[in-house]
Amino acid sequence: MERQEFLSKFGIGVVAVCAGCALAACGGSKADNPSPGTGGGGGGTPAPTPGTGGGSAFLTADLTNELTAVGSIKTGNGIILVRLAAGNVASSFTAVQIACTHEGTSINYNAGQNKFICPLHGSEFNTNGNVILGPAAANLQHYTVTITGTSLAVS
Ligand code: FES
Repeated sequence: MERQEFLSKFGIGVVAVCAGCALAACGGSKADNPSPGTGGGGGGTPAPTPGTGGGSAFLTADLTNELTAVGSIKTGNGIILVRLAAGNVASSFTAVQIACTHEGTSINYNAGQNKFICPLHGSEFNTNGNVILGPAAANLQHYTVTITGTSLAVS
């Protein structure tokens, strides 16, 4: 009888406290990682949402004063956008998710080697986001770049 009384008084309280901790942890992890989801090692992170003023675009750039030099980058909304070549045409740019598919570290673009490299464990991805060196096993999500005049949109 004593044991049953103890559990009824304190057992439920402990469960309620632990449930509160678990809920707080779930809320924090989503807010801390805005990178797009790919189903890769990142673990189901949410997809980017369209920005304001850019229609349905995840990221936009004004090519009159942004990304004017080959190798220049712009990041936002979990995406890294890179100018690969001269000319304001879509094929001069690439846009991929910035979070490495291994453990979610932000990748860097290496202009000299023309590829993305993760600084944490060294995974490498080509400009289309495909894995060329592990430990990452999944490709980066590759986005569509469209250009209208000097306005670039990533969708
Ligand atoms: S987090 Fe990128 S290679 Fe490990």
